[in-house]
Amino acid sequence: MDKAIEVKNLRRIYKKGKAEPFIAVDDISFDVYSDEIFGLLGPNGAGKTTIIKILSTLLYPTEGTVKVGGYDVVKESDKIRHIINLVSGGESAGYGILTVKESLWMFSQFYGIETNEAMKRIEKYLKIVEMWNSRNTLLNKLSTGMMQRINLVRGLVSEPKILFLDEPTLGLDIEGARIIRNIVKEWVKENKERAVVLTTHYMAEADELCDRIAIINRGKLVAYDSPESLKQTISIEKFFEITTPLGEISDKDLIKEMNSKSSINFTHYPESGETIILLRLKEEKEIAHIISTLEDNNIEIKSLRKIEPTLEDVFIKLVGRRFEDEEKD
Ligand SMILES: Nc1ncnc2c1ncn2[C@@H]1O[C@H](COP(=O)(O)OP(=O)(O)O)[C@@H](O)[C@H]1O
Ligand SMILES: [Mg+2]
Repeated sequence: MDKAIEVKNLRRIYKKGKAEPFIAVDDISFDVYSDEIFGLLGPNGAGKTTIIKILSTLLYPTEGTVKVGGYDVVKESDKIRHIINLVSGGESAGYGILTVKESLWMFSQFYGIETNEAMKRIEKYLKIVEMWNSRNTLLNKLSTGMMQRINLVRGLVSEPKILFLDEPTLGLDIEGARIIRNIVKEWVKENKERAVVLTTHYMAEADELCDRIAIINRGKLVAYDSPESLKQTISIEKFFEITTPLGEISDKDLIKEMNSKSSINFTHYPESGETIILLRLKEEKEIAHIISTLEDNNIEIKSLRKIEPTLEDVFIKLVGRRFEDEEKD
């Protein structure tokens, strides 16, 4: 697999007047490969936008080396600009007085794309984002969700090797976010040379969309792997949930028997008459013992569910607290 991006010991320090210098990105290293969707996941203020601005040559690193498409972001930024594009979730895509199509054509001209080819691509991508029917609508008449899709098309029209998306689904409803995520997935699949680097503070988005992620917290890299591996590394203990149609389980001996192998929590719900048993097992195979104990005691099992860890669990485990936004000073 080709390396699309190489980041080595990247630091970025902001200096504002007489204020103390602020380390927004602190000694971060990671690689992004072609053909993957790479996510920078972290709370607001973590340093994600700073990193993506450095990768897209809008900001200089303070220390460290960054190569994009094999080019150095400080010495060869001109070459990088031809092979990348950046779309930020919150921005507006151009001038309200232009139509969707006019505005996209204008952006294609910044990339020197020949008009026939530009029009072909604009049609193709507007159809993909289900906006072809709105091609003659003025930009300032579009909803947030539609604007976000047009922003994305603007990023796709130059057919970059590397597409940077800063919070691509910020403020969108579930349906709007789903459309954007699907297009991003399809676009990367279409050509093995492509890569997407996106930032998000939505755990579920990183989990669903990204092949690999870097979790960033207060400017530091706290984890770097595929979502699956990250979830596996923390799930040494296995969680299961058993629902029984029985009322309160009062058999003390049974409770003791089950607790000998695992940590168990019984919760009775009088409304449904059900009892939910939450099990924390050291080993997955212990579930067999639990099930046979319940059967021996004539306790019917209505459902058995393994509770999979989430990226939020990973974050709590690594950082020691919930995924909250950083306070800005
Ligand atoms: N131009 C700037 N000058 C000073 N501090 C900044 C500047 N831009 C961002 N910061 C600070 O750097 C930190 C990281 O910001 P940012 O990269 O935007 O984080 P994120 O995108 O993860 O929310 C924040 O604490 C922010 O206040
Ligand atoms: Mg940001």
